[in-house]
Parts: sequence; C-alpha cells; structure tokens
Amino acid sequence: MNLKNEIIKLKEELDVTLVAHFYQRDEVFELADITGDSLELAKKVMLTDSKYVVFCGVGFMGESVKVMSPEKTVLMPKIACCAMARMIDVGYYEENLKKINEAGISNDEILPITYINSSAAVKAKVGQMGGMVCTSSNAYKIIEKGLKSGKKIFFVPDRCLGQNFAKSLNLKSAIVGDGSDLKQADIICYNGFCSVHQQFSVEDIEFYRERFPDILIAVHPECDPSVCDAADFVGSTSQLITYIKGLDPEQKIAVGTEFNMVSRLRDKNTYILSSTKPECPTMNETTLQDVYNTLKSIKDDKISKETEIFVSEDTAKWAKVALERMFEV
Ligand code: 13P
Ligand code: SF4
Repeated sequence: MNLKNEIIKLKEELDVTLVAHFYQRDEVFELADITGDSLELAKKVMLTDSKYVVFCGVGFMGESVKVMSPEKTVLMPKIACCAMARMIDVGYYEENLKKINEAGISNDEILPITYINSSAAVKAKVGQMGGMVCTSSNAYKIIEKGLKSGKKIFFVPDRCLGQNFAKSLNLKSAIVGDGSDLKQADIICYNGFCSVHQQFSVEDIEFYRERFPDILIAVHPECDPSVCDAADFVGSTSQLITYIKGLDPEQKIAVGTEFNMVSRLRDKNTYILSSTKPECPTMNETTLQDVYNTLKSIKDDKISKETEIFVSEDTAKWAKVALERMFEV
C-alpha cells in the first residue's frame, strides 16, 4: 500500500482538514492542507469549516483548536505532549503563585501570561485571573499590553521567553524559586524550558563564527538568553522563516531551532547551530502510518478515543477567554 496516495484519497473523500506544524516530519508536512507556526495554525484552523480536524503537532495545539472550535472533532494521530508544556500543571502554577505571595506580592498585583505551550487547564487558570495567552510571534505585543495594567507579569512556563522579552523591553526579570528577588522584577518567570532549544550554546555560535567569519546566527527565543544575546536575529518560527528566506542565497546562516524545519528551509549555506540533531522528539512522533490510521478511522466510523481531543466545558470556557484576549491584541 502506498500510504501517501491512500492519505490523499482519504482526504478527498472526507470532510477533513489535515494540519501540520513546521516541526513535523517532511513526509507528514508535505501532505497537510494547512501548515504554520502555533499562532498561524490556531488562526487558520478557526477559519476552516470542515467537521474533522486531523492535527499533526503537540497536544496543547490540538487542545487550543478544540477550545476555539468545540463543534469540530479534533483528532491527533499521536497525542504527543510538548516537554515544556508538561513542566507545568495547575498544581505547580498555584505553588508558584504561593511563593510569589510569600515574597510580598499579592495576586491583585500580578497579571499572568501563559505561552501557548501549556495545557488548556493552565490557560483556564490564567484566563480566570484576568490574564492571556501569547505565542513566540506575538509575545512582545502581548507583554507590552499586559504591562499597561501597571502589574507585574507572571510568565509561564518558559523562563527563556520571559527573560528574553524582558531584556528586549529593558525590563527586569526573575525566576520563581531560584533565590532571585521577585519584588524587583517586572516579569516573574516560571522555571520551565524547552529541552530542544536548550541544546544551542554560545560555544556553538563561537564555533561557527570562527569557521565562517561572515556567517549570520538566527535563533528562536526559547533559546537561553546568553545564546539570544550572541545571535544576529531572534525570532519565532515564522519570523525565522521570513528572515532566512529573505537572505542572499550566498549568505551563510546557522540556525538555532528544530531540525526538521531548518532542513527544509534552503538548499545551501544553511547550518544547524549544534553538533547534535535537535529534533523535537514529540513533534517527531507522528508518522504517515499514524495519519493514515486516523483518517481511516474517520472513514470507518471507528474513531479511537485515544486520538480524540476532549476539553471539559469549564476548562474550555476560561481557556477560550485567555486565547481570545490574545486574538484581540
Ligand atoms: P512557534 O510558536 O514558533 O510555532 O513555536 C512553537 C514551539 O513549540 C517552538 O518550540
Ligand atoms: Fe515543546 Fe520544545 Fe518541542 Fe516546541 S520544540 S514542541 S517547546 S518540546
């Protein structure tokens, strides 16, 4: 059986939209009807009218689609959970709030912002406290808007994104639980991180700069602040794509983000900013066979509960509030 052809046939027969994040394997990515970074996918899927969405990405992305479009049946061929999103649940969120309160800062003085890489339950908690969601493409605008409230931002779960945006806005940041002075900070960060983007180091940048003095370095803001400081360009997935595609073809560039995305960007003069292969293990879990199985389960009316995304009504209500506040900005 030729899986690719079978998938194309099933897509034609069914009322389905196949969606893939840029970090998906090439063979999955190239069959998708909609591709993009997390913000683009959240927006584009809302505009589709198909009954079924088959989402190739990580769990929080499928959940966001379900929250925004509860009438759709959202299926994920592999419900793989982003390692960073897994670092925070409602219990940890509340524990951190308690530590912030113990530092003499009341809940009324805090505005929570959650990176979209978090569960619907965490988004709901943030929504209930008057806060909102951001992605790496709009974090700058969202944080700026949040600061207009005159409150401190409690940024979860990615400490790097929080620290990097604090720096670019000339603000002070601190991390809960690492002994830093929370009262002095404008942005208080939860201590989460992306294990894929932690692989890029200043030494990697030095290595490339020594080898190719004219090389440019571009990285995702989930990288450590020391790496972002040493880079020529810092941007979200789609910002990196636009930047790199706009370069002269002869310009060498080393990129600090996920392998699958970088490897399909440009034919030549493009390097991975690492001696390792920085693939996101959870994004890589979805195979063509999984996509086929999920589409076939729709056709045979045998959808497995293991692939369907469910979000409870109460969680969805507040997570939607937090997501809508982002879309308004
Ligand atoms: P984007 O918002 O840039 O798509 O990033 C999602 C992600 O998980 C990056 O690691
Ligand atoms: Fe999560 Fe990192 Fe993978 Fe992005 S690259 S999905 S943040 S583990």
